[in-house]
Amino acid sequence: MNSRATEVRIRRMSAADLERVMEIAESLRDAPRWPVSAYWAALDPLNTPRRIALVAEEPETDAVAGFAVASLLAPQAELESIAVAAEWQRRGVGGRLLKAMVEKLLTEQVTEVILEVRASNRAALGFYQAQGFKETERRPRYYADPQEDAVLMGLRVGASPVPETGT
Ligand SMILES: CC(C)(COP(=O)(O)OP(=O)(O)OC[C@H]1O[C@@H](n2cnc3c(N)ncnc32)[C@H](O)[C@@H]1OP(=O)(O)O)[C@@H](O)C(=O)NCCC(=O)NCCS
Repeated sequence: MNSRATEVRIRRMSAADLERVMEIAESLRDAPRWPVSAYWAALDPLNTPRRIALVAEEPETDAVAGFAVASLLAPQAELESIAVAAEWQRRGVGGRLLKAMVEKLLTEQVTEVILEVRASNRAALGFYQAQGFKETERRPRYYADPQEDAVLMGLRVGASPVPETGT
């Protein structure tokens, strides 16, 4: 456990969080730059694919420290974005967000969480590996501006299906 671990409360993202969520994303070089319309879509339960969007907040001040968004394509979910404000990083907030996300995804019959990340994003790669994700594939020159490879990763969650015995 991280020695500077901070207690945070995890809850669903709401429209009132969007200004702070975008501020966090814009302050981090490696966070995805989503237009506000993408966050609105993430909050819309009628949007296809449906998304789960969570924030982590510091309980004493209600300050939002980070957020995560996943899209549902059961039995898979894609972790599309996870970001923790620089001053909160390496204090267990990202891990808490991911754990809470997996708990929610399990109630949606998800058995695998997938994601793609820039090969140069060492912090995210280290984080995902620490959370149990395994590299499944590499897509050369997948990203533009700057051009670089994508690393695809996957995490099995929940119970494995019972194998068929053929009897
Ligand atoms: C990736 C990110 C969300 C991790 O959040 P975090 O709150 O700092 O992560 P945690 O404190 O829960 O870290 C848990 C473990 O992950 C690993 N880890 C986290 N950051 C790491 C880094 N920079 N380098 C190597 N390993 C790292 C460590 O094993 C860490 O445990 P430790 O601190 O006890 O060593 C954060 O670095 C971030 O917001 N990055 C910018 C946005 C981004 O790149 N998002 C991913 C692409 S969408």
